[in-house]
Amino acid sequence: MTRLDRVEQTSARFTGPPLTPRTAVIWSVLRAELERRAGDRLTVLDVGGGTGGFAVPLAQAGHGVTVVDASPDALAALTRRAAEAGVADRVRAVQGDGDALAGLVEPASVDLVLCHSVLEVVDDPAPVVAALVTALRPGGAASVLVAGQAAAALGRAMNGHLDVAAALAAAPTGTAGPRDTLRRRYDADRAAALLAAAGLTVEEIHGVRVLADLLPAAVADGQQAALVELERALAARPPYRDLAAQLHLFARRPA
Ligand SMILES: C[S@@+](CC[C@H](N)C(=O)[O-])C[C@H]1O[C@@H](n2cnc3c(N)ncnc32)[C@H](O)[C@@H]1O
Repeated sequence: MTRLDRVEQTSARFTGPPLTPRTAVIWSVLRAELERRAGDRLTVLDVGGGTGGFAVPLAQAGHGVTVVDASPDALAALTRRAAEAGVADRVRAVQGDGDALAGLVEPASVDLVLCHSVLEVVDDPAPVVAALVTALRPGGAASVLVAGQAAAALGRAMNGHLDVAAALAAAPTGTAGPRDTLRRRYDADRAAALLAAAGLTVEEIHGVRVLADLLPAAVADGQQAALVELERALAARPPYRDLAAQLHLFARRPA
């Protein structure tokens, strides 16, 4: 039985936000961890957590969440959102750089760390991942979301930019040169190796947005529930997983 199957049996207790094709797979994985720790008030750290799309629902579920983000505007929006949701007392906004995380968070104090869509933009991902591990208690879990290289290459090709697609597919960084908006993209093996090198045990890898970005908007919007189900069905299965726009890795600091 997979984590996604298990959560089907347990998700009634934590409803969380409405599931969308962009978030359903991630929430399924996170819900399973929350259910595993049911009854505990977790200490959560969301690095690059932005406006709180994950932080606020986790706070609503009763957990204490610290969001470290470089953007004051994002943190202001997070603070408003937390207040509107009635969880201001469980959400702490810290302006800071993921590259300097070690100085912002007490070592071995965190049960669950989120690092979503950040490792693609920081100067150097290895020290950031090392800092995530340092922040985690032994046995604590990491939810890491990174951009997928294959989907980006296919996307460029489908838009007619075959030279860019070729460069992107061949580049060890998974980027298309200096004009690329991201500094790096990953395949599943490279992303897993990054986490393993820092001492994390990778437990699961899922594709996020296997189909969502490929479908015409009328289909994606008109059949959202069916699309969510299909994304969940394909998320763990290569080759679909490996063509997703993003790769989600769930890993743990050994106890
Ligand atoms: C694409 S957004 C992702 C937001 C959120 N994690 C999510 O998945 O919805 C990237 C976030 O990372 C923040 N960020 C970018 N570089 C950062 C850095 N070096 N340190 C901390 N946060 C950073 C940005 O301000 C932004 O809020």
